[in-house]
Amino acid sequence: MLSTSASSKKRLLSGIKPTGRIHIGNYFGALKQFVDLQDKYEAFVMVANLHALTGLPTKEELIDDTRNLILDYFGAGLDPEKITLFKQSDVPAHTALSWILSNFVTPAYLERAHAFKDAEAKKKEVNVGTFTYPILMASDIVLYDSDVVPVGKDQKQHIEYARDIALKFNNQYGELFKLPSELIIESVETVPGTDGQKMSKSYGNTIPLFGTDAEITKAVMSIPTDSRAPDEEKNPDDLILYQIHKLFNSSAELKARYAKGLGYGDAKKLLVTDIIAFVAPMRERRKKYEDDPTLVDEILVRGAMRANDVAMAKLRRVYEAIGLTS
Ligand code: AMP
Ligand code: TRP
Repeated sequence: MLSTSASSKKRLLSGIKPTGRIHIGNYFGALKQFVDLQDKYEAFVMVANLHALTGLPTKEELIDDTRNLILDYFGAGLDPEKITLFKQSDVPAHTALSWILSNFVTPAYLERAHAFKDAEAKKKEVNVGTFTYPILMASDIVLYDSDVVPVGKDQKQHIEYARDIALKFNNQYGELFKLPSELIIESVETVPGTDGQKMSKSYGNTIPLFGTDAEITKAVMSIPTDSRAPDEEKNPDDLILYQIHKLFNSSAELKARYAKGLGYGDAKKLLVTDIIAFVAPMRERRKKYEDDPTLVDEILVRGAMRANDVAMAKLRRVYEAIGLTS
């Protein structure tokens, strides 16, 4: 029994780091699922601002990226009347539990994390925050008895870690934590960037979801095209351009046009038009919130209160189970 839950719905929790502007990979891979599932689940959606610290942003960057991500969430269609939207840093239980869970994890285990290995491979100086990132993420998830965690494929291992860590805790102190499952939609698990690699802020190959028309156009124009003759038959699914285009227009008609040799110039123009039409209502919704900062602040206060209620109740039970309270 969840002591503070008034809902019989299953729980969903997820979050995005406020590190630069979100792109269509974030949207189709993760954010769209938050929106699509907000009625079916009791949803908790975070701004993962503590996780963003691993990249040592400046104060201004963090403030800016946080505010933008919150507006992006609303613009994309998250309804503050339906979900609990909060900033991770507003809920101290996340870091408190993270310390407790760190005792169930060995360095060797953390060294196997893809994100850590990638950072090491790039010969980056890896800070301890990056190293212990999966522990904080496990805390985020298990504090809320989350049933599902919608994410892109790159986060799959982190959810596995959350499950492992929760299980170890449960084995030692009793069944306190629910074991979460990742929710990954195969068709969008890794959205390609404009260069065909995974779309990622760090590769400079993104199409920003809330970019200006000019930014969207520039990104689309940079998608490489091959030397196919206009009338040459080709499987559209092999083309980066179509792999991105079908996210916005999955009609058989479009696919047939590509298959018949739709010229790249025309295809790119059409893609720009389709993206802009797709984001138009989102931009409008985002603007509504942008123009009402008081409302946004109120939503965040409400979200923080609700998230703290749930998280603190769980943390209290953890303290009791471990022997920290008596
Ligand atoms: P991040 O920006 O790393 O906080 O990512 C936020 C969410 O977007 C995570 O669930 C990622 O797995 C997801 N994501 C990021 N890039 C992509 C991509 N290219 N394709 C699919 N999902 C993605
Ligand atoms: N690590 C996730 C990412 O980079 C963000 C995140 C932090 C998250 N805590 C989470 C996602 C909890 C899901 C659940 O995208």
